[in-house]
Amino acid sequence: MRRNLATYGDPGFSLFLRKAFIKAAGFSDDALDRPIIGITNTFSDFNPCHGNVPRLIEAVKRGVMLAGGLPMEFPTISIHESFANPTSMFLRNLMAIDTEEMIRAQPVDSVVLIGGCDKTVPAQLMGAVSADVPAIQLITGPMLVGHHKGEVLGACTDCRRLWGQHRAGQIDEAEIEVLSGRLAPTQGTCMVMGTASTMGCLVEALGIALPGTGTIPATHADRIRAAEASGREAVRLAKGGPKPSELLTEAAFRNALTVLQAIGGSTNGLVHLAAIARRAGLSIDLEEFDAIGRKVPVLIDLKPSGDHYMEHFHWAGGVPKLMKELGEHLDRSAATIDGRTIGEIADAAEEVPNQSIIRTAQSPVKPTGGMAVLRGNLAPGGAVIKHSAASSALLTHTGRAVVFTSVEDMVRRMDDPGLDVKADDVLVLTNAGPRGAPGMPEAGYIPIPKKLAQAGVKDMVRISDARMSGTAFGTIVLHITPESAVGGPLGLVRDGDLIRLDVPARTIALLVDEVELARRKAEWHPPAHLSEASRGYRHLYLTTVLQADEGCDFDFC
Ligand code: FES
Ligand code: MG
Repeated sequence: MRRNLATYGDPGFSLFLRKAFIKAAGFSDDALDRPIIGITNTFSDFNPCHGNVPRLIEAVKRGVMLAGGLPMEFPTISIHESFANPTSMFLRNLMAIDTEEMIRAQPVDSVVLIGGCDKTVPAQLMGAVSADVPAIQLITGPMLVGHHKGEVLGACTDCRRLWGQHRAGQIDEAEIEVLSGRLAPTQGTCMVMGTASTMGCLVEALGIALPGTGTIPATHADRIRAAEASGREAVRLAKGGPKPSELLTEAAFRNALTVLQAIGGSTNGLVHLAAIARRAGLSIDLEEFDAIGRKVPVLIDLKPSGDHYMEHFHWAGGVPKLMKELGEHLDRSAATIDGRTIGEIADAAEEVPNQSIIRTAQSPVKPTGGMAVLRGNLAPGGAVIKHSAASSALLTHTGRAVVFTSVEDMVRRMDDPGLDVKADDVLVLTNAGPRGAPGMPEAGYIPIPKKLAQAGVKDMVRISDARMSGTAFGTIVLHITPESAVGGPLGLVRDGDLIRLDVPARTIALLVDEVELARRKAEWHPPAHLSEASRGYRHLYLTTVLQADEGCDFDFC
C-alpha cells in the first residue's frame, strides 16, 4: 500500500493525526485499512463536455466499494475548449502539474482519471506518468448527434461548415441561431473525430483505459457501467499495478501513432502524444509517424475525414474492432491495463454485420494515413498536415503568400474588400505558435477571405505555426517548427513570396534565396510580449514552453 502522507517525525503521531482527520470527514476507524482509490473530479459549470462527471464518479465509487476499496474523490482544474482564455493549450500544462502533484501529494494507491474535453485527457496522462501511481483513464464520452431539417449534424465539423455557409451568405441569421441549438445537443465531448474523440481512441491504443470504453456515448448506460468497471479495475491496480511507466512503453506509443493515422485523428493528438511520451522519458519520432502513415490507411469513416460520428463508430465495434483490422500494423504483444495484450483485445472484438464505418484494408476511407509530416526551409523542425481532410487538388501547389502577422492582424484584415488575395494564393499566419500568441491557438484554420468565400472558394492552402481543431478540414499546414516568435523562418515570409507545398514529397518550401532570407533575419525582432515583464503562470509559460515537436510541455517537466 502506498501511504506517503506527510509525516511529523513520529510515525505513530502521524497516523494518529490522519485518523483524527479521516474521522472529521465522517469515516469509521478502519477506513484506511483498504486500498484507497483516488478519483479526479473535473466537473465544472464551464465544461459541458464533463457534464456527466457526477454520475460517473458515483459509479466509479460503487465499483471501488464493490471490489473492497475506499474511493476518495478530489478536484483538479477542468478545461473546456470554448471557455479558456487565451487558449486551452495555454492551460493544459497547468492541469498536468495540478494532476501530478495531487496524485503525488495524497495517499492514493491508484487513481481513476476522468477526462474528456480536448486538453483534459492529455493533461491527466502527462501528470499520471510523472506521478507514476497506477492509473486508469475513464473518458466522459462523445455527445449524441444533432438533427436539423433531416440532416445529421455534429460539433464541430458541421459548426465550421455551416458558419462558412453563413459567411458566404447562404444561411441567414435566423437559421444560424437555430443551428446553434442543434450542433451540440447533449452532454459529452465533440462527436466527430476531433481531439477529444482522438484521445478517447488513443487511451485504448495505449492500453491505459478499459477496452471499448473510449467511444461509448456520454449519455448511455454503458458509459456508467464503464465507470463502475473502471472503479473495480482501479482496486486491482492498487494491489500490483501496472504503473503508467510500465504500460506506456515505446510499443504502446507506436500503437497509438498507428491508431492516430488510421482514425484520421486530430493533429493535436500528435502534440499530446509527444508531451506524454516525453514525460515517460521517450520521444515521438516524426519521421516514424510519417512512415506509419504511408503504410496504414484511414479506416474510420468519421468527420472530418469521412461522413459519420462517434456513436456510429462505437456501435460498429469501436477501437477493438479497428485494432483487429489493423492486424500486424500493431504491436500485438503490448500490455494493457486489464492484463490482456492489444492482440488479445483485438481478437475478441465484436463483429457487427454490414457495418461500413470501420473499413478493411481492402476498402479504406483513404489509401494512406490521416497525417503527413513536412520539412523544408520553411519548417526545419517539421510541420504537419492532415491530408485526409484536405483538397486533393491542392496537395501539390505553388502560390503567392498573403501574410498575416498575428491572429489580431488576420481578424482585422481578412474580410477587407480591398485585401489583395486570389483563390490560388497561400494564406500565411505568423506569431501564432506556443510562445507567439501565446498558447498556440487553434487559429491554423484560417478562414477563407469573405470576398473569396462569397465567390464560391471553399479551400485554399493555409500555413501557420498554430494548431487547428481536430474537427476542422481544409488544406492546412500546421505546427511549423520552430515557430516564428522564436526566430523560425515562417516569420521571414513577406507578401508576394512564392511558397511551394508538395505533400507527396513531404516538403514545404519558401522560394526566396538565402541571401535575402539572411537579410530579413538580421532585421527580425521577437514579438513585443516576449520582452515585456510577465508574472505568474504566464511568465512560467512564456519562459519554459517547448515547441510543438516536443509536445509544448514545459522544459522542466
Ligand atoms: Fe469539449 Fe469539443 S469542446 S470536446
Ligand atoms: Mg477541439
